[in-house]
Amino acid sequence: MEKIRVNLGENSYNINVGSGILKEFGAALKKVNSYEKIVVITDPLVNELWGGILRSSLKSEGFSFDVIEIPRGERYKNLQVAFKIYDKLVQLEVHRDCCIIAFGGGVIGDLAGFVAATFMRGTYLVHVPTTLLAQVDSSIGGKTSVNHPKGKNLIGVFYQPLFVNCDIETLTTLPQKEISTGLAEVIKYGVIEDEDFFKFLEANSHHLNTKAFEDADTLKAALKVWQTIVSESCKIKARIVEQDEKEKGIRMVLNYGHTIGHAIETVTKYSMYNHGEAVAIGMVAAAMISKEMGMLDEVAVNRIKVLLEKLKLPTGVDALSANKIINGLKVDKKIREGRIRFVLPKKIGKVEIRDDIPISVVRRVLKTLGCK
Ligand SMILES: NC(=O)c1ccc[n+]([C@@H]2O[C@H](COP(=O)([O-])OP(=O)(O)OC[C@H]3O[C@@H](n4cnc5c(N)ncnc54)[C@H](O)[C@@H]3O)[C@@H](O)[C@H]2O)c1
Repeated sequence: MEKIRVNLGENSYNINVGSGILKEFGAALKKVNSYEKIVVITDPLVNELWGGILRSSLKSEGFSFDVIEIPRGERYKNLQVAFKIYDKLVQLEVHRDCCIIAFGGGVIGDLAGFVAATFMRGTYLVHVPTTLLAQVDSSIGGKTSVNHPKGKNLIGVFYQPLFVNCDIETLTTLPQKEISTGLAEVIKYGVIEDEDFFKFLEANSHHLNTKAFEDADTLKAALKVWQTIVSESCKIKARIVEQDEKEKGIRMVLNYGHTIGHAIETVTKYSMYNHGEAVAIGMVAAAMISKEMGMLDEVAVNRIKVLLEKLKLPTGVDALSANKIINGLKVDKKIREGRIRFVLPKKIGKVEIRDDIPISVVRRVLKTLGCK
């Protein structure tokens, strides 16, 4: 198991990354603190697939606990569901010394994190992420949120957990789409911070699909590769978050691919591409904009595209309107004083934030990607 420290002063914590570590979760929890009550918040599928291991690890350390199940899906990440959880916590007579365990993907992490941050002005929180996206991204950095009918993640607070427990083995039950979604963020880390990590992904792309989980030999090799991928991704995100806990500056580099990706999600009303797919298209768009601006060479643009394609992510769009995407960009959170901010690669492993990109360049790139 690898321990990655996130240094945030009194809010510092560890991310544990290892294969099979869910079995030792109870012991890890005991080492960190004592708790008046433990409440696990999860969804029915995660509970069915992996809940047995979590429950026996808690029981074997003598913990008693309650489990709250939330239906699966983004549409349950809202204030009404948060309120139902508060009701249940009141009924369970939960106090501030309670520990909430967010056990599932990013939806459960954001929702349970938001509840932990707000109930009784804050209970203890531990993340046990079970999707790739949650392990490499959403469980790190303390962003918790629920959606508002007018937009995703509009209501939320920064709230750091006591620790994060990433068991690589939980990834083996994910469908390919969830693996690909998480991989978009993983590739992002390579492009923004670490060319060697990007090269590692290029060299190991054949392990990064659900087929690799199907027989014992390929599974063993794949788990080794996933261990490196999750650990390195957590380190990169942790180093960025440490410099900018509340997203006032450098943390914005994590938005590489998200400017156009988010506009695509908005224009298609989240129906055509999942988040990772939209980010993948956004990363290609940003690389092409960078090339048009004379900042990045063609070879690097192609490396990004080829890797995304190998990992079953899209690199173009199907006849969306360029104008609609550009209008979508103008209402994005990443706008400051009317200027659209793009995170643009200068080489693989280094990016620059720019807010002076002519709309004509953005339009030209969108058309090359397949927009009308
Ligand atoms: N807080 C942050 O910094 C941050 C960053 C990125 C994304 N997010 C949020 O994360 C959410 C998306 O997270 P996600 O991609 O994990 O989706 P998700 O939480 O919806 O999980 C996807 C599906 O995978 C299932 N699942 C979970 N673990 C599984 C496992 N081990 N095996 C099989 N199935 C499993 C779940 O039941 C769910 O239906 C969004 O709400 C997004 O806004 C937050």
